[in-house]
This record gives sequence, structure tokens and C-alpha cells, in this order.
Amino acid sequence: MEKTFKKIALLTSGGDAPGMNAAIRSVVRTCVFHKVIPIGIYKGYDGLINGNMTEMNARSVKGIINKGGTILKTARSKDFRKKEFRKKAFNTLKSNDIYGLIVIGGDGTFTGGLKFSEENDFPVIGVPATIDNDIFGTSHTIGFDSACNTVMTAIDKIRDTASSHNRLFFIEVMGRDVGHIALNTGVASGAEEILIPEENLGLDRLVQSLKRSQKTGKSSSIVVVAEGDNTGQNVFELKEFVEKHLPDYDARVSVLGHMQRGGSPTCFDRVLASRLGVKAVESILEGKSKIMIGLQNNNLELTPFKKAIKGITKINTELLKVSDIMSI
Ligand code: F6P
Repeated sequence: MEKTFKKIALLTSGGDAPGMNAAIRSVVRTCVFHKVIPIGIYKGYDGLINGNMTEMNARSVKGIINKGGTILKTARSKDFRKKEFRKKAFNTLKSNDIYGLIVIGGDGTFTGGLKFSEENDFPVIGVPATIDNDIFGTSHTIGFDSACNTVMTAIDKIRDTASSHNRLFFIEVMGRDVGHIALNTGVASGAEEILIPEENLGLDRLVQSLKRSQKTGKSSSIVVVAEGDNTGQNVFELKEFVEKHLPDYDARVSVLGHMQRGGSPTCFDRVLASRLGVKAVESILEGKSKIMIGLQNNNLELTPFKKAIKGITKINTELLKVSDIMSI
């Protein structure tokens, strides 16, 4: 008997990001709209290997657009790095009559998706979701805006107590390799200094800047430090260094950690996720593969996985200047 309906599988993989659920909802409903059966894979590529999946419908994604995390769960699969397990995953898809795969995640997710697609000649499309915003081919990844708002709100609160006690705070934010969260939230919360992996402004400059803050009568100082900053020192070492050189400062450290990855997505992320999800399904149905859907100048654009993975996202250096001027 001839089959009427295609099946498309979807999964979330890597570090979760607010808005992943909105992307799942969008993919599922677009599938249903186009008379395709959406198959949700649990726990990222691990679920694909183990055949951990469920058939979804428009109602399976009700009430999730505003929820953080991912209803499909996620994982950083070690097994999927091995060819034998990727073959196993392919067999799962084939034996379930699945036509294509949509992966929602970051560069690790796309690297796995590309290998998988090349080895098995299987259509894979990517939707960029990571709070780090470090994917080439999109100005924004799903979750970045939400994480920035979470961080900004946290820093505003820290500012209250910092001002009350005339303290200096070193605040560590996520971003192992990139400083987008640090740079944007630093500007948005009026940080005195911002330390990011892409620039090494030197510790002398930090000391001079904090000295100036003291002289100009600031009641508090905030230094936003990206996880992978370029000073070679972690936040605790930075605090010690500054206390040694500026003993008048009463300094504290706050590591925001994984709270940055949770919470309800912002309006921007919900809209972005909804748009990318629709385009992902329509692209796979048009026969496209090994590409990521991204946002460029508010238009949806397709970028080959190869480029998205290898390309480097540049920080907006104008923001460094803005921060310098604002923190006089
Ligand atoms: O998802 C990206 C990220 O949040 C990075 O900013 C951070 O370094 C990393 O994930 C933490 O990963 P995990 O939750 O696996 O410790």
C-alpha cells in the first residue's frame, strides 16, 4: 500500500536553552500543518541511537511556548561521536520509516548532524539554540536573548547590595569561548569593566579603571567576567589580584552558573524559535539538507552546516567602546 504521510524526527541536543520548547512546538505544528507526522526523539542523539522516541501531534506541544528547558530532554552524546553508533541511529530512523531529521542545538549538535548526514545520505536540518550565541550564520541563537535578560536581572539585584555596601563585585557569566553574554549584559547593567575571551585588555587596565571608579565617587563597581575570559585568571583569582593592588576595595564574587540556562523564554526568543521551526520543516520538505536556518538582518537565511560550524562569530566591538564611555 502506498504511504500517504511522511515522518520527520526532531530532537534537542547539547546544553539546553530557553526557547527550545518553542522551537519544538513550531516544528511539530508545522509538520502537522503539512500533513507530516512529527516524531520526537528523547535525550538528543542518545535517544536516536536507542530508539527512544514518540509520535507527536499538535496537542503534544500545548502550553510549552513559555516554558524553559526542553520537553524532549537533551544530552551531550559521547556515543554519537562514534561511527558505529551513528549507524545504529540511522537504522533506527530507517526502520521507523523516517524521512528526515531536524536537530535543535549548537555547534556540537550540527557537527554530529553533518557527519551523520554525510555517512548515511540522510536529510538533516539544524535550528540554532544555545545561550552562547556562538553560531556563524545567525545573528541570534535561540536562548541568547533570554539568558541575557536573566543575567541582567541578576546583576541589577547584585548592584543593589553592592551599592548598599560600597562593594566591588566580580560576576562570572557563561561563555566558555565567546563573550556575547558578558558584553551585552555588561553594557545593559552598566558594568564598570567587561572581561571576555576575545579581548585581553590587561589586568593593569582593570586596576586603573577601578582606581578611577573610586576617585570619581562611585558607590559600587561591577566587573562582568565571561567564563572563558582572556586574563588567564578565574573570578576568584581576579578578586584576589584586585584586593592586593587596591586594598580599599571590599570585593565579592558571584558565579551565576546554570540559572542562566533556565527560565521562561523572552518574546524575542519565542518569535525567533517559531520562525526558525517553520522554515526548518519547509526546507527539509523542499529536499534541503546539511544546512542551518538562521536569522540575518531579520530575514531567515540558510547556511551550510560546514560554514556554521567552522565560521567564527565576531563580538560587536562597538559595545566595548560604548561600555568604556558609559562607565566613566
Ligand atoms: O550551552 C553552552 C554552555 O552554557 C556554556 O556557556 C557553558 O560553558 C556550558 O554550556 C556548560 O555546560 P554543562 O551544562 O554541560 O556544564
